[in-house]
Amino acid sequence: MATRNIIKVGDELLRKKSKPVKVFDEALWELLDDMKESMHKNNGMGLAAVQVGVLKRVIIIEANNMFMELINPEIIAQSGEDIEQEGCLSVGKDYNYVKRPMYVTVKAQDRFGYDFCISGEKYLARVLCHEIDHLEGVLFIDKVEKGYKEKK
Ligand code: CO
Repeated sequence: MATRNIIKVGDELLRKKSKPVKVFDEALWELLDDMKESMHKNNGMGLAAVQVGVLKRVIIIEANNMFMELINPEIIAQSGEDIEQEGCLSVGKDYNYVKRPMYVTVKAQDRFGYDFCISGEKYLARVLCHEIDHLEGVLFIDKVEKGYKEKK
């Protein structure tokens, strides 16, 4: 395992669309392991492969004391809304309020290519949406709710 460098806002790559993973091989597992180490080193709650410079539809999440790897994740259902603060390892110390669904269900594959679904509410739903946005080149700073900054 190795720590990989996390790219920051301003880097063009963060704005690119990530490509589906078709091969579930050692290179993918190494990427996943490196992403986990890089996320932990930077005290993150989630990380998308693009943040370590790899344009593949791969995200990892640490939420509710669970560590998850999601390959080719897709939101298949969502409902409600929740406005809370969020941040991003590629943005730095700038936290801001973003509206997200209260509940989401995500379909994905694990590191061996097996399909699974995960449903999350509130915080978990938020992190899932945030990381899946990265795969489309979208950052939370694009979605900030105006007028909420002063409340906390
Ligand atoms: Co992020």
